Amino acid sequence: MKEELISFNDVLIKPQYSNVMSRGDVNLSTTLSRGLVLDIPIIASNMDTVCELEMARKMSELGGMGVLHRNLTKEERLLAIRNLMAWDAVSAVAVGVHGIDKKVLGSYLYNGVKAIVVDVAHGDAIHVYNAITEIKCFLERNSHNVCLIGGNVATGDAVERMASAGADCVKVGIGPGAACLTRVNTGVGVPQLSAIMDCAEKADHVGVTVIADGGIKTPGDVAKAIAAGADAVMLGGMLAGTDEAPGDVQIIKGQRVKSYRGMASSGAGSEYVEGAEGFVDYKGPVAGVIKAVTNGLRSAMSYSNSKTIAEFMAKAEFVRVSPMSLGENGAHGTIL
Ligand code: XMP
Repeated sequence: MKEELISFNDVLIKPQYSNVMSRGDVNLSTTLSRGLVLDIPIIASNMDTVCELEMARKMSELGGMGVLHRNLTKEERLLAIRNLMAWDAVSAVAVGVHGIDKKVLGSYLYNGVKAIVVDVAHGDAIHVYNAITEIKCFLERNSHNVCLIGGNVATGDAVERMASAGADCVKVGIGPGAACLTRVNTGVGVPQLSAIMDCAEKADHVGVTVIADGGIKTPGDVAKAIAAGADAVMLGGMLAGTDEAPGDVQIIKGQRVKSYRGMASSGAGSEYVEGAEGFVDYKGPVAGVIKAVTNGLRSAMSYSNSKTIAEFMAKAEFVRVSPMSLGENGAHGTIL
């Protein structure tokens, strides 16, 4: 153990001289692979309280993407992908690593899926790499331009192994999520901003892209994740509680809420409980959350004199902050 690793609250993005005259001049598009370019670098998490058909459709309409989760049956996922294709929306689907069903994969491809997400709690493992290689070979044989996303990992070495196995894009984040208990129950993880930086640097060397997944609570965190080298962010808790997230609005202690739970919670069917279950405030349409995030990101990029995400990654500089300075951030001394 030699260095101190950091996360979002440990830094701010240093303001720089800028000749970006308007936030409207900023382009938020991002390339995740040859075949997958998004207008905004935001992806709804493959969680059963975040992304099913309605969320995937809206996220695509807003320029991002949503990943259909694995607690949906293969048939439900296929039906959703079909619907998305009929609406001309981007579709992405999560799959497991055991018993890869080529017939099902083939039908996802036939119905225009744009990304396959091989998503497990600990991606840096031999059976995950075998699954990624198997899927990659299948994709290549069927000559489709589908983005193969693997995860989750939290080290540059794992990114290299994932790239060698055949992933086009790697999802980064072990335990930072709002409903994650992995760090508490196992003691395992890497502070997320350091993990993103380490993984993004390696990803650049080996020619893959990176999604920062977990721990993002504010539009400012999104900007920091992208400044640290993430090509896109995946959001769970921030998008839970919106109209498009699965589940009904409930009233608890007079507050409107919707449920939010980790995919490794017992409620989501996990035997090894590494996920929490609870509620988040009801937030209205997801478009409102996405607008706040894209506005924040546009501003952050203009403060770093950047008109594109690539420019932002190259130019943005972080300053370390002391824990005592955190009191300066946000509204204070103001009655909200
Ligand atoms: P946020 O912070 O956006 O994080 O809510 C979403 C990400 O959290 C991960 N995830 C889990 N991690 N136990 C974990 O340790 C879980 O039960 C769990 N469920 C989701 C996942 O990467 C998601 O995108």
